[in-house]
Amino acid sequence: MKGVILAGGKGTRMLPLTKVTNKHLLPIYSEPMIYYPIKTLAAAGINDILIIVGGESIGDFLRLLGSGREFGVNLTYRCQEGAEGIPVALALAREFADGDKLMVVLGDNVMDEGLKEEAARFEAGSSGCHVFLKEVHDPQRYGVVELRDGRVVAIQEKPVHPPSNLCVTGVYMFDSSVFDVIHGLKPSQRGEVEVVDVVSHYLKAGRLSWSLLKGYWTDAGTLEAWFEANSIVRENRQKAKPS
Ligand code: DAU
Repeated sequence: MKGVILAGGKGTRMLPLTKVTNKHLLPIYSEPMIYYPIKTLAAAGINDILIIVGGESIGDFLRLLGSGREFGVNLTYRCQEGAEGIPVALALAREFADGDKLMVVLGDNVMDEGLKEEAARFEAGSSGCHVFLKEVHDPQRYGVVELRDGRVVAIQEKPVHPPSNLCVTGVYMFDSSVFDVIHGLKPSQRGEVEVVDVVSHYLKAGRLSWSLLKGYWTDAGTLEAWFEANSIVRENRQKAKPS
């Protein structure tokens, strides 16, 4: 299985911090944000990673991350012109995937859980899509699932009246048919092609599985969540220090 990190987008929710810097290069405590999804993939046993970056910043990413040797992974880069949505960015990974399954991590997702077993199970399994859910206090910000008898029956992006407080985190596993699914999608009312539409496609086809994230997870893509992620990572690192 290969890995893809989506680090495009405009970072408008974090202006002016992102006026001259890509959001994923901002610090989360002692490391740039982009280190976290790279470490998530490396911990899941994935060594071949494509980073999709917004056009203006690709040189900065290359200077920071190079070949990926520091993380024990091989990094490849691709540039996304514009920011028309997560699936549009993911579509740029088709050649890189070359028929393999993918673990996709959104570049602003910060977590401390190793997903090695889930990755190995998905890789060995037949096909489909796997999502990781997390209970949150502000589901309106996310893709949210409706569960019935332990089964996902619907997914909505940023619902005004969320059917649950279980959000779809920005860690996904897809089989190689994801590129055909994306090809058939149209932009939503907010003008973006939505990742929940990709996941819903698998749901309707009966090929969606899910599991709960047990550890710490956050989407650091807003000022408040970014600030909170800084404090939590600091706290966790200090707890982990030998006394
Ligand atoms: O973090 C989980 C949430 O992420 C999910 O629950 C939502 O279903 C999903 O839509 C997404 O919501 P966000 O509002 O957080 O998406 P955002 O626009 O912040 O994009 C997330 C990452 O994807 C961001 O770090 C950069 C990347 N991205 C985004 C866009 C729009 C790209 O690489 N290219 C893009 O065109």
